[in-house]
Amino acid sequence: MTQPKDLYSDYLRLDRILDAQTPWSGPAGKAAHDEMLFIIFHQTYELWFRQTLFELDDIQQRFSSSVVDDRDMHPILARLDRIAAIWRLLVRQLDVLETMAPQDFLDFREALRSASGFQSWQFRLIEARLGLRRSDRIPVFHGEFDAGLAADRRRQIGSAESHPSLYDQIDGWLSRTPFVDRGDYKFWESYRAAVDRVLDAKAAAAQHDLGAEALASELAAIDRGRRKFHLIFDEAEHAKGVAEGLWRMSWRGLQAALLITLYRQEPILQMPARLLSVIMDVDELLALWRYRHALMVQRMMGTAIGTGGSAGYGYLMATLEKHRIFGDLYGLATYLIPSHALPPLPERLRSEMGYRYHAENGP
Ligand code: HEM
Repeated sequence: MTQPKDLYSDYLRLDRILDAQTPWSGPAGKAAHDEMLFIIFHQTYELWFRQTLFELDDIQQRFSSSVVDDRDMHPILARLDRIAAIWRLLVRQLDVLETMAPQDFLDFREALRSASGFQSWQFRLIEARLGLRRSDRIPVFHGEFDAGLAADRRRQIGSAESHPSLYDQIDGWLSRTPFVDRGDYKFWESYRAAVDRVLDAKAAAAQHDLGAEALASELAAIDRGRRKFHLIFDEAEHAKGVAEGLWRMSWRGLQAALLITLYRQEPILQMPARLLSVIMDVDELLALWRYRHALMVQRMMGTAIGTGGSAGYGYLMATLEKHRIFGDLYGLATYLIPSHALPPLPERLRSEMGYRYHAENGP
């Protein structure tokens, strides 16, 4: 059978892709050489956004069941690793766009009229699907960040916002972790006692080693430490923290995330610990992208307002902090104690957390 010619182009629909770069500066007056780079740049980004959403579809579908099958953990991690690799590339890729001088950008900026990456609905979908809530956004355009988008795109974003985000799904999955409260083992009580021991030992050492002035300041610091731990150990305090926006994660989810982080070497917790770590990679890479993009914007246009109508650089820098999604996972590090002070898990629980398979003649 004869193969049709140019299968490669057909498969990749190259005729459509390579016919999709139409600079606006020429028709507006004078063709600007660098506009081609600008267009191709945004298009490649949108393709990687598409891939990110495609991976998220699969991850979220696997997380949507009320009991996540352990076998799903491997593909979930593989997809998240891929998203992280894509975003690492998207950060580095900005080097290429920065070969454009601010003056060269200015030569076609007017022709863009109000077009801006601010209107990237795929970027908004990624944010919403990961868990950025409308109420947490910086209120540009009176909070209607999607006002400039077509109605069906707005609907799509609204739908993503009204369904459980990856954040919600991970919180739910953490809350169902069985090992937090297992028979007579109560992780929270055991951990709380260990924290008290660490702080008591610190206070005793200070009494022994320090003079009056240094002692007073050390005891005050230890007291602040106790109050800090109280914010998570006490359910009502935690609820208050959630109401005040200090925490987002549920109390039970928080306990599980700490247990996983502290006892991550136990075989059954290794995959969950990897999951938390790669989620932080993704969150950090998004923040890195925001930072690099903001620096590039400052380099290209100083503090001028954006074509999308925001405050430009100032707005973008503010999103860096305000639009972080998985901040709670970073907050956990505040509540860790050294490994040597960690209470050992009861033997029965440890064995439940181990691999079940033992070779017949093995050790
Ligand atoms: C010369 C290059 C660029 C300049 C000067 C620039 C400028 C800006 C400015 C000023 C904003 C704030 C919104 C506004 O008022 O317009 C913005 C937002 C944005 N830009 Fe760019 N941009 C550039 C390249 C890119 C590229 C290559 C992408 C990739 C898709 C991109 C994606 C975005 C996104 C997603 C936002 C929304 C960020 C948010 O709201 O958190 N930009 N850009």
